[in-house]
Amino acid sequence: MGTARIVFDRWDGRYAGRMADVRSSAVRDLFAAASRPDMISFAGGMPDLSGVPAEAVAGAARDAVLHEGACALQYGSSEGRPALRRTIVELMAESGVRLAADDVIVTAGAQQGLDLLAKTFLDPGDTIICEGPTYVGAIQAFSAYQPEMVCVPMDDDGMRTDLLEAELVRLGPRGAKFIYTIPNFQNPGGVTLVPERRRRLLELARAYDIPVIEDDPYGRLRFEGGHVKPLRALDPDVIYLGTFSKIFAPGLRLGWMTAPRPILAKVLLAKQAADLCGSAFAQVTAERYFAGTRWRRVLQGLTRTYAERRDAMLSALEEHFPAEVRWTRPEGGFFVWVELPEFLDAGSLLAEAVEHGVTFVPGSAFYPDGRGRNCMRLAFCYAEPEAIAEGIRRLAEVIEDRLGLYRAFIDAGALPAHGEGAA
Ligand SMILES: Cc1ncc(COP(=O)(O)O)c(C=O)c1O
Repeated sequence: MGTARIVFDRWDGRYAGRMADVRSSAVRDLFAAASRPDMISFAGGMPDLSGVPAEAVAGAARDAVLHEGACALQYGSSEGRPALRRTIVELMAESGVRLAADDVIVTAGAQQGLDLLAKTFLDPGDTIICEGPTYVGAIQAFSAYQPEMVCVPMDDDGMRTDLLEAELVRLGPRGAKFIYTIPNFQNPGGVTLVPERRRRLLELARAYDIPVIEDDPYGRLRFEGGHVKPLRALDPDVIYLGTFSKIFAPGLRLGWMTAPRPILAKVLLAKQAADLCGSAFAQVTAERYFAGTRWRRVLQGLTRTYAERRDAMLSALEEHFPAEVRWTRPEGGFFVWVELPEFLDAGSLLAEAVEHGVTFVPGSAFYPDGRGRNCMRLAFCYAEPEAIAEGIRRLAEVIEDRLGLYRAFIDAGALPAHGEGAA
């Protein structure tokens, strides 16, 4: 039997204050548990790569070395290779955003964009506004720069812009450095910001003179309903983050940022300090992959796969989850957000769920201040439909067991009924 070792960190007193608030990503921590062969994982938002044609990617990588090795294996420009930036311009035009290649820089995934923007904009103690709950990687990236994060609640139509306005009024002249939003199939909420609220958010941002960061990894993964234009299509001042991780493969670590030129120039300085330039090899490989048309069919196939998995999850939730539990119904993306009765703590259910062979991410990971304890994020992107149905059945058992325990206590008069006296 193994014994737990307490590791003392003798450098503890040496670290910068900014590291104090940076928590390990709960999602990454769960990767170890999720690797058990019998485990059904609803934890990580890992794209399904089975549809990505290995030989086409291998061909692109091989050609990158054999035909463009002098560039692909060399340092490149900090803003990214012109050919890939032109590809990005074409992708953005399909979403309704008109750009020139000079409006775009290539980043190491959207994640680097988040870090560079935080580095560029934030001083300790600054306020920023985001959705509550929000992307755990954004909390991690932002918190290193020590801001105060204000979370605006969402409903099925995305961020509540009436509550955003109330926050802006409350903050008064102090204002906020930026508003961070994931308008399409939000991570972790699964909801999409409706067009009226997109317009309202931009009106408010303009009225209060606050930059908006639009993080859009899932916009092209729509299963139903019409395309909703990105915020950037409605306002050229919006800072937009895109990524190849969900439409191609995250292993290349390629994303992009478009922003007003003065902001882009500052971000570029931050990027030069971070990595000099992105991987030219990855960029040439992506250029070659996206030069053909096959990627479109691959993306259509991926979208169909995710839609089937979403359907499998929603019908299993309907069939197995207790009536007291609520969840969102995403029209695209990777995630369903589940709200348990307030008195249940999803974090405390996790160990039991893992014993039953299923994982998820507890909701508190998606708030900077530990809210969301009664919530969980379920990723439907990775498991096959049959496994999804079985995983939801197992999870329902765990929730039912815990609910049964509470009901027994309530019947015995030992606990307040749901809602009574909930602080
Ligand atoms: C909302 C959001 N932003 C950014 C990222 C980071 O993606 P990338 O792989 O492009 O760094 C993710 C990844 O899951 C995400 O969900």
